[in-house]
Amino acid sequence: MATLEILEFPDPRLRTRAAPVESFDQELGELVDDMLETMHAANGIGLAATQINRHVRLLVLDVSEERNDPRVYVNPEIVSEEGSQVCEEGCLSVPGIYASVKRAENIRVRAQDRHGIVFEEEAEGIHAVCLQHEMDHLQGKLFVDYLSPLKRQMVKKKLDKQRRQSEQTVAAGSIL
Ligand code: NI
Repeated sequence: MATLEILEFPDPRLRTRAAPVESFDQELGELVDDMLETMHAANGIGLAATQINRHVRLLVLDVSEERNDPRVYVNPEIVSEEGSQVCEEGCLSVPGIYASVKRAENIRVRAQDRHGIVFEEEAEGIHAVCLQHEMDHLQGKLFVDYLSPLKRQMVKKKLDKQRRQSEQTVAAGSIL
């Protein structure tokens, strides 16, 4: 297993639309394991393949308190959704930035596991937020896209400043 480099906003590669996974082979299994290790090492609760520059429809998450419930979603699709919720979100690709985003409250997702077995699942609360956030990544979309252009510009400036000062941003709260 290995930890992988995470792309950071505004890297244009984060705008790539992921292609469906077609082979459920050993290579996919290794990618899944590397993504889980990378997510845990970075204290994130979710990671999409897009963020590590692999443009396939794959995401992992672990929204459990104990961080011992890793889940894998290959080719995920939202089947239905209802309600709305506003959650303060962060992102491993936008370090140190948090902003409120409105998303569906409950969703039903259909996906495949790492072996290609199809499953459906209901998600609510932070689990639903995380799935929607990671599925956005697979479409080349970031949570800062929900902000006004002015706010997004401020995010860019803040990130530039952070990088100049080479601050180590320490994860706090929910990093999706
Ligand atoms: Ni993210």
